[in-house]
Amino acid sequence: MPLHRMNQVVIGVPDVAKTSEFYRDFNLTECEPGVFATADGGEQLRLVHSPVRRLVELAIGADNPDDVDRVVSQVTALGVEVQRTEDGVAATDPGTGVRVRVELAPRIQQDPVPATPYNGPGRIDRTGRAPGLLEDAPRARPRKLGHVVIGTTALEASQKFFMEGIGFKLSDQVGHAAFFLRCSEDHHNMLLQNAPVQFLHHTSWQVDDIDQIGLGAQHLLSKDPSRHVWGFGRHHVGSNFFWYFRDPAGNFAEYYADMDCIPDDQMWKPQVWEGMRSLYSWGPPPPPSFLRPDDLAELMAGLHSPKG
Ligand SMILES: [Fe+2]
Repeated sequence: MPLHRMNQVVIGVPDVAKTSEFYRDFNLTECEPGVFATADGGEQLRLVHSPVRRLVELAIGADNPDDVDRVVSQVTALGVEVQRTEDGVAATDPGTGVRVRVELAPRIQQDPVPATPYNGPGRIDRTGRAPGLLEDAPRARPRKLGHVVIGTTALEASQKFFMEGIGFKLSDQVGHAAFFLRCSEDHHNMLLQNAPVQFLHHTSWQVDDIDQIGLGAQHLLSKDPSRHVWGFGRHHVGSNFFWYFRDPAGNFAEYYADMDCIPDDQMWKPQVWEGMRSLYSWGPPPPPSFLRPDDLAELMAGLHSPKG
């Protein structure tokens, strides 16, 4: 696939310093004020000031200049204006209001992490104590940015923009209200969902396994239990284990592990999901504020305020 990775998200928040503290606790590495790196993906989060929280920009990596040229002609064919950048192209999706940059980038090289050994009935795959629980076991350090979930006020236009314009592929969908899309071998790098206002629902960050999700959660919640949003559980669409937290601006951030991968498009058949399955396989029931964040009305008002 000519597009191959998520490069970076730029998130606008009212208080960059306060929000930065959350992402430090999330165990992203702060390279300079407001700029955070993952272990394998480099600088993948940039926080900038904005009167209301929002996803300002999303950068996606492409292999070569031909791929960038293709995006230029595809987006232009949709009647959306494009700007050439130093090493790529940028265009704004009319539905989500997100500026999308497609730029040349090296593929993410992830050294294979040895499979976590688990004992099972009649099967001893490890002896001694579980390695994830040893005193010196490292805390979750997110490996890479996995996906973003964004609300669009024009779902059809956004779907066209990201699929026909940028080149995302459809992995699954929830009725006609949400689309799971990928620009890499991960099951999804984006979920586009119908919403009354343009907003960022969550960003999601890959960790090694379920112990890393639990240990990361424990660290975040030991400092502030109100950061908890929803988890621990397992999604059905994408199969990933999940736990969601709230940053001080109101954006959700997810630790995930064990997501479905689609290295061969021919081997995957998109399906339409409805009801509980579209949300999760198991876990505690999602709180209403996960489905409809508490500040949506405020965001809608902010959108129309003179300052907004
Ligand atoms: Fe997610």
